Amino acid sequence: MDRDQLVEHLTFARELGVTGSSRDPRWRERRIKAAPPAAVADSTPEAEAAESAMAAGALAPAAGEPMVLRRSAAEGLEMLRTEIGPACTRCKLHTLGRSQVVFGIGNPNAQLMFVGEAPGADEDEQGVPFVGRAGQLLTKIIEAIELKRDDVYIANVIKCRPPQNRNPEPDEVEQCEPFLFQQIDAIKPRVIVALGKFGAQTLLRTQEPISRLRGRVFEYRGSKLVPTFHPAYLLRNPPAKRDVWEDMKLVRQLLAGE
Ligand code: URA
Repeated sequence: MDRDQLVEHLTFARELGVTGSSRDPRWRERRIKAAPPAAVADSTPEAEAAESAMAAGALAPAAGEPMVLRRSAAEGLEMLRTEIGPACTRCKLHTLGRSQVVFGIGNPNAQLMFVGEAPGADEDEQGVPFVGRAGQLLTKIIEAIELKRDDVYIANVIKCRPPQNRNPEPDEVEQCEPFLFQQIDAIKPRVIVALGKFGAQTLLRTQEPISRLRGRVFEYRGSKLVPTFHPAYLLRNPPAKRDVWEDMKLVRQLLAGE
């Protein structure tokens, strides 16, 4: 990190309400490490035997064991990406000006996943979620808890850009949301952060305002879900960054198993 980056990092941390850094060595020990690549995640002799059997095209169960085909998170995501296809036509958004499907990006073995609403213009152009101004702020939020974008997984409820960034409509959510569920089920993150009113209300099937949902922990598909304000809202309302920082401290505790 050069001097300018350090100044920017510290300025942003102050805006978030960070009042100091922890010298407690236990926090560093508990830091969330990027998970090892899936191929070496399980290196027991049994796992290696299963790998070779799978490579040979057959997975023989151990004596008395049921046949189980285990797929890595990365494989599951790639299969899903192929299933959706680069030019999905399942909902009307493909006729309304979207240029490509924005699938999701990050570490398939992430312990932390962010779920936004839908791609905007920059995301539609680049095919990657959260790369515009709101995305740059999200990157800073991730870095504020000492993680990198590559450590986490980022996706949206809706994979195609709605025209003029309008809210996704119920038929679009109905078609697309199952793909998000499959992403979550493949990644199995410990914590999901739902970004903004739309993502939080859609996932939790509630009309409660985001101001009442944020900062709470919900059980969700085997993960802990924490709603917080959307980075685009923070761009319009910088004082709300303090609330997001509180939420991210909670996320950090959940990641550390507290
Ligand atoms: N807003 C979102 O909700 N998702 C994106 O990918 C970009 C902006």
